[in-house]
Amino acid sequence: MSTFPKDIFSENDDIDPYTLDNLGPLSGMAGVWRAYGGEDIAPKADGPDKSIFSDRIELQPTDPQSNGPQLFYGLRYHQQVIKRGENGVFHDQNGYWLWEPATETVILTLSIPRGQTAIAIGKAKPDAKTFQLVAKRGETVNGICSNPFLEHAFRTEEFRIDITKHDDGSWSYDQTTFLKVLGQEALFEHRDHNRLKRVGKAKPNRAALKADAEKKRLANNAIKESVLA
Ligand code: HEM
Repeated sequence: MSTFPKDIFSENDDIDPYTLDNLGPLSGMAGVWRAYGGEDIAPKADGPDKSIFSDRIELQPTDPQSNGPQLFYGLRYHQQVIKRGENGVFHDQNGYWLWEPATETVILTLSIPRGQTAIAIGKAKPDAKTFQLVAKRGETVNGICSNPFLEHAFRTEEFRIDITKHDDGSWSYDQTTFLKVLGQEALFEHRDHNRLKRVGKAKPNRAALKADAEKKRLANNAIKESVLA
């Protein structure tokens, strides 16, 4: 039985514009982050290849987003990964981290310039310190779409990501992309993990800035009125 509301058009009319205060388990992840010493296990012709990499991840709050009655608070992110000893970005990923308070659901949308995109979904409590999201090839909700060559030669069957938020304010990801490499029987576990430290603050979302400006304007008007009274 569907738990969705009957009215699919009406939006919530008292949406809090302050995204940074409404991120549930994603709280504390907004900002600019760096990490060194990440580990990657990737497929190569002569077997698994391990490399050490650094990460730069920027996550900035978006304005609250509604699909009719559905409400998301979220972060727009861009991750850039550089292999130790190299200059070029060898993994570049962007998308959104979304939190739906009503259903205690976290969604990660991801796109990478290999010509691949996915949506991973998981459940989490608002104060969760760890949570897991999963995407599976063939699913129409938390699915994976790959370009024809990847689908032929490196077919992604599943993607899993575990997030852990640490007491010192840092957070880690540990993700595995399960690949069916052409000519290999067993699924290849393409694993990446790293722990991020904050190097820059988040910028408040536009609706939050506008709400602050409106509060200031009303406060100034109140002062003017009290002086004139
Ligand atoms: C920190 C994150 C990641 C790093 C550092 C990374 C790195 C790599 C590396 C080094 C390869 C080997 C092939 C090559 O050198 O081009 C590779 C292959 C691949 N990766 Fe990742 N990857 C990451 C995350 C992901 C994610 C999130 C996905 C998709 C959900 C993904 C999908 C693939 C696929 C499909 C291949 C096989 C294609 C090929 O070898 O040309 N990777 N990745």
